[in-house]
Amino acid sequence: YTASLDANELDKGTYPFYMLKEIDEQPAAMRRIVQTYQNDAGELTIDEDIVNAMLASDRIYIIGAGTSMHAGLVGSQLIEQLNGIPVEVHVASEFAYNMPILTEKPFFIFLSQSGETADSRQVLVQLNQLGYDALTITNVKGSTLSREAKYTLLLHVGPEIAVASTKAYTGQIAVMAILADAVRQAQGKAAPFDMGQELSLIANAMETMIDEKDHIHEIATDLFTDKRHAFYIGRGMDYYVSSEAALKLKEISYIQTEGFAGGELKHGTISLVEDGTPVIAFITQQNTAAHTRGNLEETRSRGAQTAVITTEALARETDQIVLPTVNELLTPLVSVVPAQLLAYYASLDRGLDVDKPRNLAKAVTVE
Ligand code: G6P
Repeated sequence: YTASLDANELDKGTYPFYMLKEIDEQPAAMRRIVQTYQNDAGELTIDEDIVNAMLASDRIYIIGAGTSMHAGLVGSQLIEQLNGIPVEVHVASEFAYNMPILTEKPFFIFLSQSGETADSRQVLVQLNQLGYDALTITNVKGSTLSREAKYTLLLHVGPEIAVASTKAYTGQIAVMAILADAVRQAQGKAAPFDMGQELSLIANAMETMIDEKDHIHEIATDLFTDKRHAFYIGRGMDYYVSSEAALKLKEISYIQTEGFAGGELKHGTISLVEDGTPVIAFITQQNTAAHTRGNLEETRSRGAQTAVITTEALARETDQIVLPTVNELLTPLVSVVPAQLLAYYASLDRGLDVDKPRNLAKAVTVE
């Protein structure tokens, strides 16, 4: 007798929560994104009109809320480094009422899993009135932000049910990577690496991390049991991932967590570090690795319980979580996975409803 079974409950299969299912789906989602954006010759391609709009622009403005805004931070680095076009990332609710001075030829990218976030829509409505063109990158075909923007790129990661966004974050980064790669090609710049091949390696690296769930659960229990505050730190790309890792942990475990720029912590906020305060560092970028290690050490000497998420290339013996090495520009796609799992297990250990944290909604349609 199945009539009383909720359709969503069936979709979850053997998973206790959608969030874990959606974390697990990320390697397959990466591969699907690559396949979807490949042409018959196996090359990654993006709609020519979108590429031309990017080429014609003197500055890209990325707008989003929550996790989508965090994906935008990573995307800004991809576009700046691969295309040499300056990028600004804005929180939608701020941009709406405090619009920055725009350049002469701005182009706008809206990131939104649901395509329904009112804060982002408010900005898009204004920009449409001003006559500017925008691209929406979303998971939901036919969503409001998709319909109201001139251009749309879809994530193709499948429906995301858990309030805490996981596969949409990595999907948004992957689509922006493919977009930046297409623009690079149109600019006639040499490829620093093969994007399609690298994204496939990333899918494998994600799998390696997901296979380490039990190990990551142990680390989560060790770090977060009975804790009320925590920090993630990093520099550059690692700082951007720290912001997302902190959001994941706080939104579902209710542990107050800050994602902090490694070098800035000592200018005030380190006073919050007490005996046992968890401080987790992302160390995946060669040029900042030594400095971030120094910053982590500063917190440890003040009593912090520290952990490191790093790559094989930069790992030291005592580092807790070691990722397979992938291209540094794309490392957030892999380094976020253990952070998603740490958040998941912290919430699970506390007996909370992982998929439906208090006070939150999957799509927020009020400003
Ligand atoms: C809500 C969700 C967040 C999400 C944000 C933006 O606050 O709880 O998980 O990141 O909205 O949503 P969007 O659908 O625009 O990506």
